[in-house]
Amino acid sequence: MEPREFFIEDRLERFRLKAFCNLGESGLGFFRLEEVLGMAEISFSDLLDLPMNDSPNQGSLELRKAIASLYPGVSPDQVLVTTGTGEALYLAFHIALKPQNKVALIWPAFQALYEIPKMLGAEIVKVPHEKAFLASTWKDIDADLYILNHPHNPTGKTFSDWEWETLIAEFRQKKKQVLFDEHYRFLPSEGFMGRTGVDPNHSFYGTGSFTKCFGVTGLRVGWLIAEESFLKRTRSFKDYLTHTVSPISERIALGLLNAKESFLPKIQLRVRKNIQSFDSIWKELPHTESFTTPAGGLVGWLKLKPGISSEDYADRLFEKTGVFVLPGSNFEEEGFLRIGFGEREERMIEGLLRWKKCTDLI
Ligand SMILES: Cc1ncc(COP(=O)(O)O)c(C=O)c1O
Repeated sequence: MEPREFFIEDRLERFRLKAFCNLGESGLGFFRLEEVLGMAEISFSDLLDLPMNDSPNQGSLELRKAIASLYPGVSPDQVLVTTGTGEALYLAFHIALKPQNKVALIWPAFQALYEIPKMLGAEIVKVPHEKAFLASTWKDIDADLYILNHPHNPTGKTFSDWEWETLIAEFRQKKKQVLFDEHYRFLPSEGFMGRTGVDPNHSFYGTGSFTKCFGVTGLRVGWLIAEESFLKRTRSFKDYLTHTVSPISERIALGLLNAKESFLPKIQLRVRKNIQSFDSIWKELPHTESFTTPAGGLVGWLKLKPGISSEDYADRLFEKTGVFVLPGSNFEEEGFLRIGFGEREERMIEGLLRWKKCTDLI
């Protein structure tokens, strides 16, 4: 059992640190450790005092309390701290799925959401993003596990209030497992935090993190929310993998979650401004056809004119301008580019100007 190559990774490894303007990654441009400690209100001496033993297998109680408080009705016993959301997904799929199970998810998708289920023998039901944000679409789809990634990577779409209420009521009636991947929840289109569908009492599991939204992907902290018996099995599985998360990462994670009100509004403003800059210019970028303004998160999905290879376009764009974007082919959908909105504002503006002037991309 081996998953196929993770399509986005090769390109990310090659370009993310070299790009003048990084619109390829789905996270906010990273902060330096000194900045992160300031955001987390942790002094250097606090860190020096940290006992370097293993953290508790499930994650420290303080951190689990802080994570549980992000979800109505969830207790710290229903939280497992993991090494990134990727590990939380890997564990959840192993416990939730049996071979030949059906998994329905919004398409295109972050590859781990379907590649690991596929590796485990599941059948994948792709629900096209054009209709996936309508509750009625899911009514007649029969699956053993439904995966709802919102705000969605790579389109930046999410549900309207009415569709959301209807959808949740429908899923309660279905009495099936639902996994809400809410990695981008700290970047809603408006307000401080996006909604959650997580409800352990109804087998509505949750995976999440703050690392992409806060610009600290190197911390590698994520989590899984589920009812206690499911969570116990994932915790035991995790003992064979990463076992525990570094106490340094856990301590900084706790500080960031507790202090988020002080720095998150500034990040949200930056991402909204970047989205506005892109929105005002995308029609002038060469060979572009359509773009739906993201309703949340850090990425959007730009359609190219027919017949253009997204990979060739992305390669030439990088060579000629230093602007890095991901080709749709990395999401197994040709004719699109995924655009990230986490770059610093000045670089985003300069990058877009260079892109606009670059006429020989195909
Ligand atoms: C929707 C979604 N889920 C999960 C992940 C994995 O996140 P992490 O880097 O925390 O493992 C990503 C990463 O891009 C993602 O976009």
